[in-house]
Amino acid sequence: MLENFDQIKKDYEFTAVDEERIKELRPIMEKHLDEFLDRLYKFIFRLPQAHKFFKNEEVKKRHTEKIKQWYKDLFSGNYDDRYFEKLHKIGEVHDQLGIPNHYINATFNFIRRFFIEKINQEFGYSRQRNLYVESLGKLLDINLDILTKAYIEEEISRYMKLSKLEKKLVRISKRFADFLDMTLLVALILMSFFVIGLFAFDIYELITGKVSIEEGIIKTLGSLLILWAVAELMGEEIKHLRGGGFALTAFISVALAAIIRKILIVSLSPEDIKKLVAYGFVLLILGIVYFLIAKKIKPANSH
Ligand code: HEM
Repeated sequence: MLENFDQIKKDYEFTAVDEERIKELRPIMEKHLDEFLDRLYKFIFRLPQAHKFFKNEEVKKRHTEKIKQWYKDLFSGNYDDRYFEKLHKIGEVHDQLGIPNHYINATFNFIRRFFIEKINQEFGYSRQRNLYVESLGKLLDINLDILTKAYIEEEISRYMKLSKLEKKLVRISKRFADFLDMTLLVALILMSFFVIGLFAFDIYELITGKVSIEEGIIKTLGSLLILWAVAELMGEEIKHLRGGGFALTAFISVALAAIIRKILIVSLSPEDIKKLVAYGFVLLILGIVYFLIAKKIKPANSH
């Protein structure tokens, strides 16, 4: 449930980079707010039934204030659960009033053209212009998706029904989960320094002749293998922090690398045959788990 507003961002590949770009547009778009409102209502009042919904000046005045707030939120650069809850509420209000989805779609088409016009005026036909249009386009489509309730999932409805306190708890636990993710990344960075140390130590032992050449090379290769697995794990964690899923297989590959290293080392001393068999058994189990997880993940990613 907690994941669902995040999920819509992932579905649209809406990332922190997009958020930054939209924030950069804020001062430009603030200049055009009055023109936007003026042209927006000209557009809306051309729609055949618009007057039916804006019964009097009072309603339009209220709507103008609400649109101003929506416009401010749009360029705030902050798209948390509260932002999505607001959008959901707007969708609900329009729904209850019986405003056709077609009107909302058409109005969004106008809104998109208005913003592109302003971006073009400001940046000309440049690469930067394309990037701004791309990021804002994603956000407008997400807005439209939620406003027209195309993006309705059972879980979201359930989330919307939670009390204020429950929503707060959900938000706090989400922040805590983010904090744990960051801690994990810092721990991984620290750990990688240790593995680099282990690698350096293996080289040192090899060069100074503390171990035989054969053992030295195998030990060094083993610690390189672990270093590679830790790098893989960090890559996965970074992807996860950026909003992607987490590949459990990365964790298992670290364990695989560690066991393979052990086997390489133990294989050098024939008297440790029992240990070798035990490590081989663990390796087999890990291999099976890795295979089963990778097999289960693949069909989900492939479409
Ligand atoms: C497509 C862009 C639109 C946006 C972003 C938008 C935004 C909003 C917002 C923020 C509210 C207040 C919701 C609340 O009370 O929580 C609202 C209400 C309302 N909207 Fe829209 N709206 C849009 C299009 C339209 C269109 C096309 C119509 C009619 C043709 C319309 C008619 C209304 C009416 C009548 C209300 C209730 C106003 C009141 O009585 O306070 N809106 N809208």
